[in-house]
Amino acid sequence: MKMNTQVLLSLTLAIFFAGAHAATITFTNNCPYTVWPGSLTSDQQPQLSTTGFELAQGAKNEVTTPVPWKGRFWARTGCSTAADGKFSCATADCASGQVTCNGNGAVPPATLVEINIVADGGQDFYDVSLVDGFNVPMSVAPQGGTGDCQTSTCPADVNAACPAELQLKAADGSVIACKSACTAFNEPQYCCTPPNDTPETCPPTNYSQIFENQCPQAYSYAYDDKNSLFTCFGGPNYAITFCP
Ligand SMILES: *[C@@H]1O[C@H](CO)[C@@H](O)[C@H](O)[C@H]1NC(C)=O
Repeated sequence: MKMNTQVLLSLTLAIFFAGAHAATITFTNNCPYTVWPGSLTSDQQPQLSTTGFELAQGAKNEVTTPVPWKGRFWARTGCSTAADGKFSCATADCASGQVTCNGNGAVPPATLVEINIVADGGQDFYDVSLVDGFNVPMSVAPQGGTGDCQTSTCPADVNAACPAELQLKAADGSVIACKSACTAFNEPQYCCTPPNDTPETCPPTNYSQIFENQCPQAYSYAYDDKNSLFTCFGGPNYAITFCP
């Protein structure tokens, strides 16, 4: 009897500590098309067990991250495998030639969800970023946790409001993504690079304003004042939705 109690206690502790060292990211695709999510772990840390997968319209999938963990997620669109076996996508390709991104990031333009998960139930940060442009509407919502824990979302189709000089078009002429002004023009005033590398010398531009108007909750450029607005304590899991 005493033995059983000890076994039970050990199991309970094992489950508790295992839980404290992982976070579950649940992906849901509400878009009327297939997307291929990709992930990139920051700061030269090991990549997740999967760095890319296919997610059909209406499908759900789960990925587990270690804790702490910092990185980003995005959705590739218009992907196919060529006759030579090379996999590539019309938007947000990661240029790995495979469904998995294997440590490569997204080629802009790409809507990004950035998550910084900290240890011991401390303050997590997360957001939707349009700093590298837009391709697919996305949201990120903590599941559980304590504190603010609000959903960060860019539900609008920014492609429909994209000015001609920022448009990425498919062969049929349809707009499939919207470049950031930095990607399109590569100028310091849009990229917030020297000599425009401070909040004072890199104010919002008429271009970042377009993204801001479409998705006020998302980061529209490097010094957007929404810095660290989305926070949650207590080790939440996260739900990422494409076309929320
Ligand atoms: C933004 O401003 C630039 C420079 O003043 C101008 O050339 C461009 O036409 C403007 N674009 C939009 C979409 O307002």
